[in-house]
Parts: sequence; structure tokens; C-alpha cells
Amino acid sequence: MRILVISGAPRRDGYTEELARLFAEGVSGAGGEVELVRLAERDVRPCRGCFACWTRLDGRCAQRDDMDELIPRTLASDALVLATPVYYYSFSALLKAFLERLLPTSLPFVDTSSPSGMERNTRRFPDRGPKRAVLIAAGAHRDPRLMEGLVRTFETICHGISAERAGALLRPESFVMDFDAGKPVAGRKVRAAFTAAGRELVTEGRVSARTEEDASTPFTRDLALFEGHARTYWELARGREGAFDRASLRDATAADLRILVPELAASLDPSAAGDLEAVIQLDVTDDPDGGYHLLIARGRCAAHKGRHERPDTTLSLDAGELVKLLHQKIDARAAVALGRIVVDGDRSLFVRMGRLFPRS
Ligand SMILES: Cc1cc2nc3c(=O)[nH]c(=O)nc-3n(C[C@H](O)[C@H](O)[C@H](O)COP(=O)(O)O)c2cc1C
Repeated sequence: MRILVISGAPRRDGYTEELARLFAEGVSGAGGEVELVRLAERDVRPCRGCFACWTRLDGRCAQRDDMDELIPRTLASDALVLATPVYYYSFSALLKAFLERLLPTSLPFVDTSSPSGMERNTRRFPDRGPKRAVLIAAGAHRDPRLMEGLVRTFETICHGISAERAGALLRPESFVMDFDAGKPVAGRKVRAAFTAAGRELVTEGRVSARTEEDASTPFTRDLALFEGHARTYWELARGREGAFDRASLRDATAADLRILVPELAASLDPSAAGDLEAVIQLDVTDDPDGGYHLLIARGRCAAHKGRHERPDTTLSLDAGELVKLLHQKIDARAAVALGRIVVDGDRSLFVRMGRLFPRS
């Protein structure tokens, strides 16, 4: 199967391209033939709407640019994968321009033969062109409903080009993908889903519903946690010199307690907590606000900034040590023995923390 992946991401090495690459790896791993085209590196201008391709030029576009090469490649593909960042609830302008420029592959006549009863334009080359299409979309928002317009447009395009909708892989909370330290399981699962999707397209002809679901696995437990993460992320990004740099932001978010401590709270295992009601103070010795306290009740845990008046257990440690602890780079009991963490109050609660907050 020949698969053409068109990436409409202006940003190289962003999330869209990472996901498109993972998908492409899945395709080649399953024996498919795959080509990834980055529109950002190509010259593809928007359609001028002159209709010359439908009138005097007989299927040839009036503009000379890289579509001269991309149209034949599209027609030679068995499956077309449209990979886009979500821009204003839709395709990026780069991808939209590519889609507009497929106009020469259709004819001005109305095709009434669709089983759905919806009209479309007659295809100029009925025996050529992708029989299947897959959408890959990365957006920063959390709520998948904000991608519904894009998905609907994609499905309508499938109808328009007579291709089967063979999958829609949606990745909301795109930037949280780089919070790998806090979310190793979800990150792995999502990346594996994009590779599985490429494999399934080759072996099954379509992406399974299960894989689509895995690709959209929520990264944050709720909107409040997402809101906090987004605020911290943009504060870190605004404080950075030069270009918007994914690698350095990855490092910065991995070391930021405003992300790590709420993630710790969100990881509470309700079955391990049972009916526990407790306050754990994380007394960060080099933080003027005194660190954080964790309130555990009714199987939930919330992280709050500052000191609690009556904590059950207090862990005193510096910020660097807490970051290492949360990344499982140090063993908590060994750190206590070495005096790097001082535990006051109910020590059994400290001992129980490993089970209460399972880190994978
Ligand atoms: C112009 C613009 C518009 C955007 N609009 C949306 C949007 O409507 N919904 C959304 O979830 N994210 C939106 N975003 C965020 C991007 O989708 C998000 O940062 C994504 O990861 C970008 O893809 P990339 O990582 O491949 O660059 C927008 C970003 C830009 C630059």
C-alpha cells in the first residue's frame, strides 16, 4: 500500500510532525510504502479560483509550483494522510491550500451516484487517487469537542474525493505530550497508538476505534489541572529568550513543581486511599511560600500552595530534592536516612505514600 502523508505543520519538529513520523514508522514497519511531505518546505500557493483547470487548461492548474509534482503523487497513492495542527478549529492554512489545489483532479460536473445521496464533483480520474484517507490533528485545547468542526470537514472531504474515512487520530493537549516526566504511561500509550494506527492502515485498511481512542487518551485528570499546566507552560515560554524551543521547554516543565506537584496529587490511587483523610505538607525549604500541601479526602487529592496549619505529616526538603523524588531519581527512604528529607509527624503516612501515589 502506497501512503502519502501530507504535513501541514508550519513548525518543524512540533507535535504534528512527531505524530506523523510515528504513524509513518508504523506504515513502514508493516511493509507499507510511505512518503512524508512537509508543506512548509514546499511551494504550494492557495487556489486563485480562476477555474482555468476546469475550462481552458483541461485539468492543469494555471499556477506553476510544487503542486505540479504533488498532484500526480496524490493520484498515485492508495491512502492519503492529512496531518495538521489545529489552527482556529480547522486545518492549517498550508494544508488548506494543498486541499484547494486538488481542484484539477475533479471535473465541474455533478456526480449524483454517492450512496449517501449527497452530491459531489465528478472525479477527473475515477481509477486513480487515494481510496482511503486518515486525519492526524494536534491541538493545544483539551476538549475534543473543539476538534469536531475539523473532523466534520475531514469527513466531508472524504466524501468529496470518494475516499473511505479510514481513521481520525486526534491529539488534544498537544503540549502536555512533553510533560513526559509527569505522565510516562499516557505519553507512551499515545505514541504507541500513532504507530499502531500506521500499521493498522496497512494491515486492516483502516485504523481501529480502539487505536483512535488511545491516540486521544486524556493527559490531565480534569480541566482545572489542564488550566494550571497551560498557565505554567506559557509563563515558562514567555520567560525564554529567542525562538519557541520545544526541547528547552520540555526540560523546564520537567523540573517545575507547579506541574509536578499537582500531577502527584492527581495520581492518587483511590483504592489505596480508601477513607483516608489526611494532610501531607511538602515543606520546600528554599521556597519562600513554604512549598505545597496535599489534602486527601474521599479518594481524591488536591495540591495547594503554601503551609497548612495542622499537617499530619511534613516532609522537609529542598526543591531539587523534591523534583528528583517525583521523578523517582532517588529512593525516599534512603534520602531520609541521609538527612536529605526530614519527616515529621505521622511516619506511617510517609511510608504509605508509595502506594497512595503509584508512579509507573
Ligand atoms: C494560529 C494558531 C491557531 C491555533 N488554534 C487552535 C485551535 O483552534 N484549537 C487548538 O486546540 N489549538 C490551537 N492552536 C494550538 C496548536 O494547535 C498547537 O500548539 C499544536 O500543537 C501546534 O502544532 P505543532 O506542535 O505541530 O506546531 C493554535 C495555534 C496557532 C499558532
